[in-house]
Amino acid sequence: MIETILPGCVVAADLFHDPPDATLFPEEEKAIERAVDKRRREFTTARVCVRTALGELGLPPSPILPGLRGAPQWPQGVVGSITHCEGYRGAALGPSAEVSTIGIDAEPNGPIPDGTLEAISLPEERAELRRLSSRHPQVHWDRMLFSAKESVYKAWFPLTGRWLDFHEASIAFDPLSKTFSARLLVPGPRVNGTRLDSFSGRWLVDRDLILTAIVVCSGDHHS
Ligand SMILES: CC(C)(COP(=O)(O)OP(=O)(O)OC[C@H]1O[C@@H](n2cnc3c(N)ncnc32)[C@H](O)[C@@H]1OP(=O)(O)O)[C@@H](O)C(=O)NCCC(=O)NCCS
Repeated sequence: MIETILPGCVVAADLFHDPPDATLFPEEEKAIERAVDKRRREFTTARVCVRTALGELGLPPSPILPGLRGAPQWPQGVVGSITHCEGYRGAALGPSAEVSTIGIDAEPNGPIPDGTLEAISLPEERAELRRLSSRHPQVHWDRMLFSAKESVYKAWFPLTGRWLDFHEASIAFDPLSKTFSARLLVPGPRVNGTRLDSFSGRWLVDRDLILTAIVVCSGDHHS
């Protein structure tokens, strides 16, 4: 499902259930040896997705371990992103020669908990969310905003190795083109010699899930 919002230079795989026969590499087993069952299942099925995508890139299966601040450590020459939520696990990967960074996120299409919106949004975003909610009530825009910001962070982190606060990017959605832009309110990383001051993303609502995705291709220029 996620491939519909990704460019052709990126390969993706997703699953809506946990295959009972899925296995992990010993290093991966060790990384989650103390995890509860829910965490073990999402971690494992996400790795099944990753290995499918690696195969599409012509690469052999390999262990994908959590690295700095939880960011997945990809094999040489690969960039990617992983997401999981109730009823969904997905991975998107691309060759680092063509793709600078990827951020994907899946969320249930339901409201975020009371009190969360203020913590994750800017006043301008809340005003936009009110407009979007009255015109497109089938989408939980508060959850969409959260998902878009998670995708921003996952795309941002591999480029910077730094934390990005929820108030350090301002998201604007286009409900017709099903895209969004994320304006960085702090200095952005340099990608291919150009400073990135925004990310462009796409979103999708299907099967009662919200999916968001950001891909920065090597040829992209933001100024
Ligand atoms: C790390 C974070 C983005 C994960 O998102 P989530 O919605 O909780 O969980 P998801 O299931 O969608 O994603 C989990 C996957 O994200 C990936 N991930 C974790 N930390 C990451 C990081 N620092 N950078 C990139 N990817 C990361 C991992 O692959 C993880 O799966 P795995 O542990 O099985 O490998 C989130 O928990 C977080 O810390 N957010 C705060 C920062 C933020 O969002 N700022 C907003 C900036 S506008």
